[in-house]
Amino acid sequence: MKELFLVLARSAILYLGIMAAVMSNPLQSDPSSVQQRVDALLARMTLAEKIGQMNQQHSDAATAVSSLGDAIRRGEVGSVLNVVDVDTINELQRIATEESRLGIPLLVARDVIHGFKTIMPIPLGQAATWNPGLVQEAARMAAREAAASGLNWTFAPMIDITRDPRWGRIAESPGEDPYLAETMAAAMVLGFQGEELSAPGRIAACAKHFAGYGAAESGRDYATTNLSEYELRNYYLRPFKAAIDAGASTIMASFSDLNGVPATANEFLMRQVLREEWRFEGFVVSDWASIRQLSIHGLTENDRESGKAAVSAGIDMDMMSHIFSRYLAGLIEDGEIDPALIDAAAAKILALKFRLGLFDNAQTDPSAYPGFAAPDALAVAREAALQSAVLLKNDDRALPLDAGKLDRLAVIGPLADAPYEQLGTWIFDGDPRLSVTPLAALRARLGDTVDIRYVRAMKTSRSRVSPAFDDAVEAAKESDVALLFLGEESILSGEAHSRANIDLPGDQAELVRRIRATGKPVIAVILAGRPLTLSNVVDEVDAILFAWHPGTMGGEAITDLLLGVASPSGRLPATFPRMVGQVPIYYNQKNTGKPPSDDKIVSIDEIDTHAPQTSFGMTAFHLDTHYTPLFPFGHGLSYTTFEYHDIVTDRDEIRLGDTLKVRATLVNTGDTPADEVAQLYVRDLAGSLTRPVRELKRYRRFRLEPGEETVVEFELHTDDLAFFGRDMQAVTEPGGFHAWIGGSSDTTLRTGFRIVE
Ligand code: NOJ
Repeated sequence: MKELFLVLARSAILYLGIMAAVMSNPLQSDPSSVQQRVDALLARMTLAEKIGQMNQQHSDAATAVSSLGDAIRRGEVGSVLNVVDVDTINELQRIATEESRLGIPLLVARDVIHGFKTIMPIPLGQAATWNPGLVQEAARMAAREAAASGLNWTFAPMIDITRDPRWGRIAESPGEDPYLAETMAAAMVLGFQGEELSAPGRIAACAKHFAGYGAAESGRDYATTNLSEYELRNYYLRPFKAAIDAGASTIMASFSDLNGVPATANEFLMRQVLREEWRFEGFVVSDWASIRQLSIHGLTENDRESGKAAVSAGIDMDMMSHIFSRYLAGLIEDGEIDPALIDAAAAKILALKFRLGLFDNAQTDPSAYPGFAAPDALAVAREAALQSAVLLKNDDRALPLDAGKLDRLAVIGPLADAPYEQLGTWIFDGDPRLSVTPLAALRARLGDTVDIRYVRAMKTSRSRVSPAFDDAVEAAKESDVALLFLGEESILSGEAHSRANIDLPGDQAELVRRIRATGKPVIAVILAGRPLTLSNVVDEVDAILFAWHPGTMGGEAITDLLLGVASPSGRLPATFPRMVGQVPIYYNQKNTGKPPSDDKIVSIDEIDTHAPQTSFGMTAFHLDTHYTPLFPFGHGLSYTTFEYHDIVTDRDEIRLGDTLKVRATLVNTGDTPADEVAQLYVRDLAGSLTRPVRELKRYRRFRLEPGEETVVEFELHTDDLAFFGRDMQAVTEPGGFHAWIGGSSDTTLRTGFRIVE
């Protein structure tokens, strides 16, 4: 009886305590919607406190409390970035919630781009999986590890379409195709944010960089972009719309100049498209100091003008320019900007804090999480690496290796055992000690039965010929097979790491040539952050497995593929040019009025200098290379063979508003179970604006046993065939269409249909 009384009394005290706490904090007691809570809070805020919310500041764990503590107490900081130590973050949140006047918690941001501690393949590699479900899982694991560290906001997904492999940031991008990018964008947003942002392990996403950044001239990072509205709307903007439809909380403006107006001050992008057309309700953050850069671009004369231009165009949060904190109050006082802009920006930032549940609890308890590199995170990293690798060529079934028939294996190259390099760009928090390298995985699996001779041969991917090449040749001579791990280190791609020459760096081609001369089978596994021009090595090797920067579990995944435990199933998310002069080269190009065809072109070596000019073919090609790429978008082999036949539509004609089915039969005609990525392409034969020769419209992974046959069926609504036409409105135009189904963008299995009004 006494115990029962004590329990009841304790419960009553607890209840009263909770009620008292709740009543003393009007934010927590308010059961109404986020909007009402935001309005209530905003009504109590001074102008300075509102501007404080719009200010994001960088610090590191060691100095954050001393450098930012007082500013947070004064309500001058809405968000911090790059503090990743959980205790430090908890302390900053405690200061914000307990020692600032209104107790407003912080958004704590970080570039969690393709994993936090457990590193997934680079985003370009993730796109190569053509598996949004897996990509969503990869983002979920990244979010969970980041959330366990106190972070609540990532600057991802990066969804800049690009047709330029010179651009270092192609590594972070989903590649060249808007539809593939839309599916990747949505998958990553859902993976980071889930259905409910306040759920444990979820963090806010930031779709970046809005917009056009991937079209940087000559692939030089930060360079100018000139994009027609047609290009913008039909290609570059589409993934952003998809990210927003999937619930992306925030958008980051791009560093770049778009058609003369830097994105950070671009009203067309941020007011017209984002707010008026798309009704985006989240907030827009600048890129790092991109507000200050407006005057460097030559758009404004000074920081004050830059602040005015940025806030007027639609930037809500200033990342590291310190310009909003310095100038917004004065701009309002002088009547140069509308105070409503500040209210709107602060309201959107506060709304995200409410949605994240930070007003209810801003503290992170790491013990509530499974810990870093948990078995399920490593499993996702391994599967993503496995599905991202693209088998570019495989002559005479050089792969998979038959481990039972191997006595000696030469493992050669600068990237066979490089735990850090295999992680790729943007891995601030990635832990190379977790990396399983290809060499380690091969040794673990084959070490007992196969004599593995490892010769690094090159200190880095950029090294030149050295006596170590002779050691590599010796090892190859003494082995049954030479396995070469080539490519680029992580430093050769990423932000501000563009290349003008995208061949294998250093003397790797010479290494390949010398190993080839041994007469042994040569398998190249390439780890890189971008498509490379491989023309000078492609004929010197029997097989190429392109593994991107595969992340923590890269070695395990690559070894599974080399040994045939699994069949390669990655497909190219970007075209591989023959030579850099072809760039931009992309599958969804326009036909031109003079499209090249094989029977007309003349190579530079065959030109008869005395013949009249007209004998050259007079079509859109280069004299010194073929007009096709080395490997097309969507390409990827497997250890079996797939055949497609009997493509049909369910009707020859459909009306606007109807849905059409396109189907074909897919057969595994080989002797190995494998995954195939079936792809549907469409061409709108005549448009009020000319349309691409092909556009990816749907894709799906299938797993087929040897001999197994299935029907691949895709549904297309006529809205899926819309494009932004002459008046820049989405329109589906009646007329004729071609449709292809196959395993790559160069598939020839075609049917057709018409849309009628
Ligand atoms: C600059 C990069 O462009 C952007 O992607 C990144 O999120 C920020 N720096 C913050 O690190």
